[in-house]
Amino acid sequence: MTEQIRIIEAKDHVDEEVRIGAWLTDKRSSGKISFLQLRDGSAFFQGVVVKSNVSEEIFQTAKELRQETSMWITGVIHEDSRSHFGYEIEVSNIEVIGESSDYPITPKEHGIEFLLDHRHLWLRSSRQFAIQQIRNEMIRATYEFFNNEGFIKMDAPILTGSAPEGTTELFETDYFDHPAYLSQSGQLYAEAGAMAYGKVFTFGPTFRAEKSKTRRHLTEFWMIEPEMAFTHQDQSLEVQERYIAFLVQSVIDHCEYDLKLLDRDIDQLKKYTKLPFPRISYDEAIEMLQKADFDVKWGDDFGSPEETYISDQFEQPVFILNYPKSIKPFYMKPAEDRDDVYVCADLLAPEGYGEIIGGSERETDYDALKARIEAAGLDLNEYEWYLDLRKYGSVPHSGFGLGLERAVTWICQLDHLREAIPFPRMINRLKP
Ligand code: 4AD
Ligand code: MG
Repeated sequence: MTEQIRIIEAKDHVDEEVRIGAWLTDKRSSGKISFLQLRDGSAFFQGVVVKSNVSEEIFQTAKELRQETSMWITGVIHEDSRSHFGYEIEVSNIEVIGESSDYPITPKEHGIEFLLDHRHLWLRSSRQFAIQQIRNEMIRATYEFFNNEGFIKMDAPILTGSAPEGTTELFETDYFDHPAYLSQSGQLYAEAGAMAYGKVFTFGPTFRAEKSKTRRHLTEFWMIEPEMAFTHQDQSLEVQERYIAFLVQSVIDHCEYDLKLLDRDIDQLKKYTKLPFPRISYDEAIEMLQKADFDVKWGDDFGSPEETYISDQFEQPVFILNYPKSIKPFYMKPAEDRDDVYVCADLLAPEGYGEIIGGSERETDYDALKARIEAAGLDLNEYEWYLDLRKYGSVPHSGFGLGLERAVTWICQLDHLREAIPFPRMINRLKP
């Protein structure tokens, strides 16, 4: 019996006859030979159909195959040093499974809205394949890193009554006659987890009703949020930089094929595995921007031109420490030596990709936290449980959130976050 394999396993079957379930992505034919570009979800490679080696009927079938037809291919695997994949199959038989005609995404250029309308099919392209492989590797490496460091994965709820990141960007829904919100962040629950289990991380979808249409904002994105008890901000920064370096190294180690499909320069990525990452204060960042003639003053938040300028001054990702209180959320711990900034940091990615991590040390004092919840105009009833964490054995603790799509966009060097998630949700897009 001929063994059924996936394309990715071809290297273990050189000179053997195998059977592969595949789709056709493209085709070139002459009178004597057809080259079939095949994909099976594990990789892409070429099938060669030589007229003199197969029946007239098979050669005719090969010539008539249309893009995205599915089929069983039988043939012998050969090395193919000219191709990026390194192997090809010399086809002896083709059995069509599912016909395909007028496939909308042809090898020519298409506009972005057309591609997004056909996202369910666009995912099949080699570029989208590579991005999803890298995203998957980053998720796998995240679990490996945090498990190795003694964290447990803790799932935070998606339906909540709280609004940790501000009330202007909430998706509200009706929960049996009470208002509920789709979670903006799992952090408050992760803090409860840290008090129970020491070191936890959440990983789940988070939602922001962002009205802005930018390359960096989705309305639904996935966030990894570690939270650590008995941990100050400087220790948290060390975890953050080791985590980022680990993610980059894991992609370099396991996604060489995908990085090549994306033309991503591996030597460039290697720079991001060198530690430590530089740290500058918000004050220094403002000075740096003012010297470069940006129209900013102390207290302003940074937009993407400002973040790009700052990160361009460094070879590695850079931490910006101690932002003004007025532009950050209520739960952060104020600095000890001055009352206008928090003990917090954002990590900016290089190459103009902007903020990928936001994090801080957390307020541990019951009265101070309660006052800030009230000052933020939030309903105290919804935060009683959160305040309890400061009532029963409050300890210094810190944490951070990495936006997965921001990190994928940077590591894959994409133009826009919309390609970093299988089905992007943006202000004007809920379909497919
Ligand atoms: O800076 P943010 O809002 O921080 C938090 O949510 C904290 N609760 C995290 C924590 O300390 N546990 O968001 C964290 C990260 C950002 O740095 C960014 O990478 C990503 O989440 N992010 C978005 N990604 C895509 N689309 C959006 N609209 C995003 N908003 C934030
Ligand atoms: Mg932020």
